[in-house]
Amino acid sequence: MGIVGIIGGSGLTQLKNLEILWRRVVRTPYGEASGPLTFGRLAGQEVIFLARHGYGHTIPPHRVNYRANIWALHHAGVRHVIAVGAVGGIAATMVPGALCAPDQLIDYTSGRPNTFYEGGDSSVIHVDFSMPYCAQIRQRLLAAGERIAQPIVAGGTYAITQGPRLETAAEIRRIERDGGDIVGMTGMPEAVLAREIGLCYAPLALVVNPAAGKSAEPITMAAIDQVMHEGMERVRRVLAATVPL
Ligand code: HPA
Repeated sequence: MGIVGIIGGSGLTQLKNLEILWRRVVRTPYGEASGPLTFGRLAGQEVIFLARHGYGHTIPPHRVNYRANIWALHHAGVRHVIAVGAVGGIAATMVPGALCAPDQLIDYTSGRPNTFYEGGDSSVIHVDFSMPYCAQIRQRLLAAGERIAQPIVAGGTYAITQGPRLETAAEIRRIERDGGDIVGMTGMPEAVLAREIGLCYAPLALVVNPAAGKSAEPITMAAIDQVMHEGMERVRRVLAATVPL
């Protein structure tokens, strides 16, 4: 697969099992990426890690420079990207702690720069986004999960909201009627930018809370953190099992 890019979301600002070789700040035509790219080895495979929210987790979902991040990874030679994200669970199977490799998305974000085509001398290409995620990476994730007995829900629709606030219960009911199974804030425009630039990209989502209205309990950061801590350990193991050739 060549160099594998791993984008870490909330709860995954570093890969503890990554043998770090060096870090590199990449200049991009779109401004600064979320941080320097971390070059390293994971289970013997060359990977480049990037913390989506910055290494100190200071960049909120609507302020992430998705274009710079995707451009930087591509420029560094990455062709395959696994994008980790924490999400809320909507479908009955998407309980806190569940891992999911979604196969579809619905974009509810607004106002985020969402294309590399900005006019000028390059003509726009309307990318086919019928199947938004890379089948090859999804299959690898699912096979790795099976190999290490770490269940991953195969498929599902990832709804991406603007945030940073969480949704209302009515918004979640609407998203559910639309067909959304999980909800997060960072899946777009990251996925379409990856498609535009030619990256094979797929998410690995960790459900960290029942989405709004799906539980009698209020959604607290304390409860989320607890699920996140344990869940991201499993994510690290899945990643290590996924990347070797
Ligand atoms: N909604 C949106 N994004 C999220 C959630 C949620 O419930 N949990 C984690 N990221």
